[in-house]
Amino acid sequence: MKILVCGGAGYIGSHVAKSIRLAGHEPVVFDNLSAGHEWAVQWGPLVRGDLMDRVAIESALISHQIEAVVQLAGSINVGESMQNPGKYFRNNFSISLNLLEAMDASGVKQIVFSSTAAVYGIPATSPIDESAAKRPINPYGEAKWFVERLLDWYSQARGFQCLALRYFNAAGADSEGQIGEMHSPETHLLPLVIYGAMGKRPPVKVFGTDYPTADGTAVRDYIHVSDLGSAHALGVAYLANGGASTAVNLGTGMGVSVFEVLRAVEHVSGKPVPHEIFGRRAGDPPHLVAKSDLAKQVLGWTPQFSAIETIARDAWAWSESALRQGLYMD
Ligand SMILES: NC(=O)c1ccc[n+]([C@@H]2O[C@H](COP(=O)([O-])OP(=O)(O)OC[C@H]3O[C@@H](n4cnc5c(N)ncnc54)[C@H](O)[C@@H]3O)[C@@H](O)[C@H]2O)c1
Repeated sequence: MKILVCGGAGYIGSHVAKSIRLAGHEPVVFDNLSAGHEWAVQWGPLVRGDLMDRVAIESALISHQIEAVVQLAGSINVGESMQNPGKYFRNNFSISLNLLEAMDASGVKQIVFSSTAAVYGIPATSPIDESAAKRPINPYGEAKWFVERLLDWYSQARGFQCLALRYFNAAGADSEGQIGEMHSPETHLLPLVIYGAMGKRPPVKVFGTDYPTADGTAVRDYIHVSDLGSAHALGVAYLANGGASTAVNLGTGMGVSVFEVLRAVEHVSGKPVPHEIFGRRAGDPPHLVAKSDLAKQVLGWTPQFSAIETIARDAWAWSESALRQGLYMD
């Protein structure tokens, strides 16, 4: 199959493109390179285009004879979404609406969508299952939830098959070292910890050491980006085999605290991680972990690489390689 991977020059999208290629399909990356990188597009052609441009999407769908779409493109900074909500509704919700309209006009009706644990907001209980209340607490999560609602209506009204994948905390890098995370600005914990330990960034800020968790720091569900990649390849197969529209969590079900992340990086690198302690951040729940049985049932997916030591090892190796190759961005 030929699969359009929107946002395929980005961190997760490039790993998805690799997994799709390994599954025997051709990934055609559609990306405006606003945050993605040409070096990350290695497994199929790059169409440089913007999802605001419906004509460009239709032209890519038709000229590349696309059969299904993976939609990862969008703006990803939760903090920025609180300052500039319009950007997040435009560059998450509006672009996805545009994409669905272009797909409908071109007769392409299968889509795998990057959703997020942020659709749940601050959950009443953790681990969180897919039926938990959707109460996003920022425009980023709200726009993603709006897209999920849109997918539901396109399934009911237009015969689409839609799979929403709610990622928890994506982390790590390709274990063969070909690609990895490179965001600017960087807000994710693993690269902040690693480049901090390498002396490229200031000491990492730990927000809150008085949570009701084993070591007092916040607990999250880290999922290796290659495991996310394989879930998308399985998702494409699920839809191609006639699977019904649904939404599933992608997480391990295992919580890892901020201090455990720091210790894993210290262990794989042999270097101390400089850090400073701050108070809790507003809106940060103590414990955010996925219930992940549904992804196994629906997709036959089991994470292979998501132990925190493996994530830390692959992310460290990639960061060293990115520095050597001159790819590192402050
Ligand atoms: N990283 C995480 O932990 C995480 C967690 C949950 C969900 N997600 C979602 O996963 C997806 C990918 O995240 P990522 O970390 O790889 O982000 P990323 O910024 O690395 O990748 C996003 C890609 O989309 C492209 N893009 C943005 N707007 C576009 C537009 N209008 N038209 C065409 N291309 C456009 C960018 O150039 C970039 O290559 C995002 O939708 C994000 O919300 C990420």
